[in-house]
Formats: sequence, C-alpha cells, structure tokens
Amino acid sequence: MVESTPRAWRAADEYLADVLVGDDPALEAALAAQREAGMPEIEVAPVAGKLLNLLVRISGARRVLEIGTLGGYSTIWMARAVGDGGRVVTIEAEAGNAAIARESIDAAGVGDRVDIRIGRGADVLPTLVGGFDLVFIDADKESNTVYLDWAARLGHPGTVIVVDNVGRDGEIVDENTKDTKVIGTRDGLRMLGEDPRFDATALQTVGIKGWDGMAIALVV
Ligand code: DHB
Ligand code: MG
Repeated sequence: MVESTPRAWRAADEYLADVLVGDDPALEAALAAQREAGMPEIEVAPVAGKLLNLLVRISGARRVLEIGTLGGYSTIWMARAVGDGGRVVTIEAEAGNAAIARESIDAAGVGDRVDIRIGRGADVLPTLVGGFDLVFIDADKESNTVYLDWAARLGHPGTVIVVDNVGRDGEIVDENTKDTKVIGTRDGLRMLGEDPRFDATALQTVGIKGWDGMAIALVV
C-alpha cells in the first residue's frame, strides 16, 4: 500500500490530471504569466478547474459569476464551458492581476465571454445585475458570508454555488482558531448549513494543493 503523504497525494493528482485533463497550452500559458507576474500559486488544481468546467456544463449554466480572478486560470476553464453567447463576470481586487488575467483570457480565445470587474467584492457585487446560474467563490476567505449572501441574491432557485478552500489542512475543525481565513471559512460553512436559501455539502480534497476541499451548494 502507498503511504498517504502529501507527496503521494501530489503524484496521484498529477496522474489524474495527465489521464483526464492532458496538455492545455492556453491554460499553461495563463499559469506561466501568473507566475511571471509574481502572483501566488493558489489557482485551482487542473482536476478542479475541469470540475468547474463540467459543473457549468452539467448545470447548463450560461451566466457565471466568479469572485477572485487571480490570473484567470479558473476563469478560462469556466468561460470555455458557458458556450457561445455565455458570459463570465469575474471580480478581481488587484488591478495588476486583472491586467494579466485579461491578456491570458483573450489569448485563450474566450475574451468576448469574460467581463473582468476590478474592485473588492463587497464594492463590486452590489453593482451587478443578477441572474447568475453558477457562482464560484474563491477570494478573501474573511468575506465568504458576504459573498454567499450576494451569490443567493444574484442567483435564483437552481443556481449552483462552489466555494473553494473549505478544508484548509483540517484547520476548519478548530473552533478557537485565530486564523481569520479559517474563521471566515467556518462562518461560510455554518451559513451554508443554516441559511434556508442553501442546500449544501462539501468534499475534502488532497492533491497538488495539499489537503483542502470544496463546498457545493444549490440555491433553493
Ligand atoms: C489561499 C487562497 C486560495 O484561494 C487557495 O485556493 C489556497 C490558499 C489562501 O489565501 O491561503
Ligand atoms: Mg482557492
């Protein structure tokens, strides 16, 4: 039996990405541009990017909202999935990140489907027109409850919500944590459990990003 270590998780994740995702020059170029610009390497894993792409297609989502563009990696995955006439609105707090993302998204051939809004989520979200079919929340974890509230308001019954980073190396069980990211994540999860607007679950993940997880919710 292979010992369950971060190294083994990474190897298995790379194997799955090799078999199921394969080479993707546009996405690899987006990651290279992101690294070159000095952004943190916190984009979703390839298998998770493809999961987002499949969730958009499985749900038939045509209008997608992303909170946290970073270098546009997950944006490209989802923009490919909305099809011709589909739309991704993505919010990025850092103008420099947004500029790099814009170039990568355009180079990937999906620029006409992607609208990047620069600003903090809490400022940009109230300016958006609703009707989103899928919302991906992957920004500052401290604001997860604010983002979930807006996801419900800008969505509709049937809207799919995905929240990244709900495992945080298992630290989510620590009710006394001082880590504001963990506190924000826990608050978001509690909201998903208690707020009658949502029906939700979460799955832990291990892989190239260590031990983490994603929550998936439906707006009911
Ligand atoms: C962090 C944020 C992310 O979105 C992620 O996927 C991993 C880590 C972070 O801020 O620590
Ligand atoms: Mg993330």
